[in-house]
Amino acid sequence: MTIIVTGGAGFIGSNFIFYELEKHKEDRIVCVDSLTYAGNLSTLEPVMNQLNFRFVKLDICDREGVYRLFEEEKPQVIVNFAAESHVDRSIDNPEIFLQTNIVGTSVLMDACRKYGIDRYHQVSTDEVYGDLPLDRPDLFFHEDTPIHTSSPYSTSKASADLLVMAYHRTYGLPVTISRCSNNYGPYQFPEKLIPLMIANALADKPLPVYGEGLNVRDWLYVEDHCKAIDLILRKGTVGEVYNIGGHNEMKNIDIVKLICRYLDKPESLITHVTDRKGHDMRYAIDPTKIHNELGWLPETKFQDGIKMTIQWYLDNKTWWENIVNGEYQNYYRKMYGNRKEM
Ligand code: NAD
Ligand code: TYD
Repeated sequence: MTIIVTGGAGFIGSNFIFYELEKHKEDRIVCVDSLTYAGNLSTLEPVMNQLNFRFVKLDICDREGVYRLFEEEKPQVIVNFAAESHVDRSIDNPEIFLQTNIVGTSVLMDACRKYGIDRYHQVSTDEVYGDLPLDRPDLFFHEDTPIHTSSPYSTSKASADLLVMAYHRTYGLPVTISRCSNNYGPYQFPEKLIPLMIANALADKPLPVYGEGLNVRDWLYVEDHCKAIDLILRKGTVGEVYNIGGHNEMKNIDIVKLICRYLDKPESLITHVTDRKGHDMRYAIDPTKIHNELGWLPETKFQDGIKMTIQWYLDNKTWWENIVNGEYQNYYRKMYGNRKEM
């Protein structure tokens, strides 16, 4: 079958493409990506010449372009990873988040209605559920937890989820949605917590922890996320939402200390800076449904995954140094220049 993977030049999308091409050699993958600051064509170089892979530079909001591609490729499955994905950027300027994350999703689904598909899968996030209090470790996000967003990013993702369900109910579009916790692993853009701390630590630069660093995230190795999406595509029930998470909650400050330890860097690099506006306190997924219905369980333990990830950033310095030495420097000055040390 032909699978269109949008956002495949980004972090999770590229890992998903590698996983699919390896696991399902009979399938054809068409990667659609507009190559924003977060998209990196060099990531896809290892598969670029494979006969069952095609890269198309295209904005998912470009209706005519998307329709043309559907006419040409006649895909059976769409997996939509394409998104503006960074909370801090959404706080700085929400507009593009609404465009790509909401309008882009609707364009893709309109194409699905027009040309017919077997499955539209929306890659969503646990952030649509808002946050949980730190003093209630008994609480988790379930699939029926009410949507209650905090940031422009999570609100745009939640809006897209609602739209996906509306297309299912109104037009009978065969959709599924997955809501995953924070991912880490190879090819993550160095503006996100883990790769940013690795890159800064290696350069002996300050490690900017927002506030006290007590916020909790539920970290999942990216390949485990990819495996879950693959299972949902092939065995999941149309119209259903699946939460994905590894019961691996950690405080930001502990992650940063761990990175210092593994890289043999002093904790004195840690600098507490002005907190993120509206900062969500705790995310924690209950993955019982995907475990019971599809047999999914995370396979990579955090202590192994974080070591593999740090090693990947050590072995692939050119990949991220090309990023941090370019336009990223302006981003960094803009986002961190005004954060006061606490
Ligand atoms: P990313 O920012 O690394 O990659 C996004 C990709 O989408 C980039 O290649 C970018 O060029 C492309 N893109 C952006 N706008 C586009 C447009 N208009 N048209 C076509 N392509 C466009 O993001 P990621 O971390 O890989 O996240 C992928 C998806 O997974 C997102 O939908 C995100 O909301 C979701 N998600 C991410 C996490 C996480 O921890 N990173 C967790 C749960 C869910
Ligand atoms: P991030 O990787 O941006 O993911 P998300 O906000 O989607 O969870 O951030 C993870 C956590 O790390 C979040 O609580 C914010 C915090 N953080 C810092 O403390 N310093 C930083 O420089 C960054 C980028 C994030």
